Amino acid sequence: MTMNLRSRNQRLGCLLALRFLALVLWAVHGAKALDNGLAMTPTMGWLHWERFMCNLNCQEEPDSCISEHLFMQMADLMVSDGWKDAGYEYLCIDDCWMAPQRDSKGRLQADPQRFPGGISRLADYVHNKGLKLGIYADVGNKTCAGFPGSFGYYDIDAQTFADWGVDLLKFDGCYCDSVEHLTDGYKYMSMALNRTGRSIVYSCEWPLYVWPFQKPDYTEIRQYCNHWRNFGDIFDSWQSVKSILDWTSSHQKGIVDVAGPGGWNDPDMLVIGNFGLSWDQQVTQMALWAIMAAPLLMSNDLRHISPQAKALLQNKDVIAINQDPLGKQGYQLRKEENIEVWERPLSDLAWVVAMINLQEIGGPRSYTISVAPLGRGVACNPACLIIQLLPEKKELGFYEWDSNLKTWINPTGTVLLRLERTSQHTSKLLL
Ligand code: GLA
Repeated sequence: MTMNLRSRNQRLGCLLALRFLALVLWAVHGAKALDNGLAMTPTMGWLHWERFMCNLNCQEEPDSCISEHLFMQMADLMVSDGWKDAGYEYLCIDDCWMAPQRDSKGRLQADPQRFPGGISRLADYVHNKGLKLGIYADVGNKTCAGFPGSFGYYDIDAQTFADWGVDLLKFDGCYCDSVEHLTDGYKYMSMALNRTGRSIVYSCEWPLYVWPFQKPDYTEIRQYCNHWRNFGDIFDSWQSVKSILDWTSSHQKGIVDVAGPGGWNDPDMLVIGNFGLSWDQQVTQMALWAIMAAPLLMSNDLRHISPQAKALLQNKDVIAINQDPLGKQGYQLRKEENIEVWERPLSDLAWVVAMINLQEIGGPRSYTISVAPLGRGVACNPACLIIQLLPEKKELGFYEWDSNLKTWINPTGTVLLRLERTSQHTSKLLL
């Protein structure tokens, strides 16, 4: 009987392994990405918006207004405090860097008081540190904060950014009068950036602005953008992080498969290290942004960040999952009794599994899960080594296909596990 079960299991295992192979092959031949050779793994860096917004008051708030001073300080810290070594490379300016008018040649210009050296000096400064510079503009007539929009100026603006030495453009979608203009504008800017000959990561908000009118065509968006925002702006709160996760899981059928090297869904900035998230909620954001293969763009104050938040943001194992070269976005596997289980395939036939406890009453909850169905039924077939990465790293040991795993999850927290497939033989030898 046992023998029979084993061979049935093995046959099933074989079938599942074939299914997995199909999955890997799909990843290689997936939807065509923007062919600029960039963002082969999700972009990592820092973006000013959530933490510093549109603070123009340099007189009274010199340390938090949008100025070259702020970006130079962040560039210094990105290098001195290990951020660059951890992979955070793009230092990105969001809205509110511009002067209210274009110059006499129709070019955008930085506000002369707040950016006395202009963007090109800032770009030099950032490049000298081995980092890259990101900038922000808008497809419509004005940026969301009311500064000059790029409509009618796409070629000039693309060339200006290239001349300044910009390496990433976040292109917003405010003040656009129709879906046609929006779609044409996003496509046009992609090609205009390409024509400059400079490598510029193209970060879009295209689908976010299309959703109110129609279902976005993600196959098309992927051909033009390196990442794209789908959902409203993140705030420094658990409610906000939760709403992004809910949106993502409820739309996963339409968005997960389109992501891959060169083009990613962007659930917005990491707000870890700020004020609104508890420790467990910060763990949840880091874990789930890794599962979602999301760009890791922190928006926080690197001058004032707790050692705990810094360690979480610089966690090598979790960053390695986010940056996994297979580039397949994860998805929600199940939700039951306020526990969500998400998983993501990794290269080397490994899988990562996240379990979130969404119950906001009570203490840590135990959760027991059978390992058999994890990773499309192959992650632990015939056995796997399970390593817990978050909230802290520990090796949980070997699990055979028919075994259960029991974990404890804090309210609003997440347990993140890496599953490495092993043969039964190896697991027996090592046990
Ligand atoms: C929109 C974007 C944000 C930010 C602001 C700037 O709301 O979605 O990420 O860029 O505009 O005004």
